[in-house]
Amino acid sequence: MNRTTAGRRAQAKSIVGRALVAALAVAAPLLIGTAAAAQTAWYTAEQAERGARTYFANCAGCHGANQTAERFAEYPDAASFFNFISGSMPYDGDQLSMAKYTEIVAFVLSELGFPAGDTELTSDRAVLAQISASDAPAAP
Ligand code: HEC
Repeated sequence: MNRTTAGRRAQAKSIVGRALVAALAVAAPLLIGTAAAAQTAWYTAEQAERGARTYFANCAGCHGANQTAERFAEYPDAASFFNFISGSMPYDGDQLSMAKYTEIVAFVLSELGFPAGDTELTSDRAVLAQISASDAPAAP
């Protein structure tokens, strides 16, 4: 093996090395993305259906069919949204149960395209604080 061949081999190796690094750089966020996507199944389909009924019975009269899903994006996360609606809404009526506010949040998440899963959402603010409209798969 003369110097030139060794040099070319070294060069070839470093090209392969760089390609691998580039491939990993592309693949790693995809893998992380998949893991994050699995965690976005925050509520059950049944809970969102109950939430839709609760929303149409108590909120839609003033807010229309999906205005609230749009407004959700104005809150940093589902915890602050939950705190607002449970503290101030319905504007003219009696406060609902925490379970009903939670199912309204589930309905809003379903409207935003978040997938349904096997576990019901709860009013645990630490969990709600992890849910942001900016992670929504689909805009309302
Ligand atoms: C009687 C009419 C009425 C009902 C019923 C009502 N709201 Fe509201 N809602 C309002 C008004 C008026 C405001 C603006 C209040 C303010 O600015 O202080 C508001 C504000 C909001 C906001 C803040 C964003 C915005 O649109 O200004 C959200 C979110 C919201 N309501 C959700 C709900 C939910 C969820 C329910 C059902 C549990 C509900 N509302 C029921 C009248 C209503």
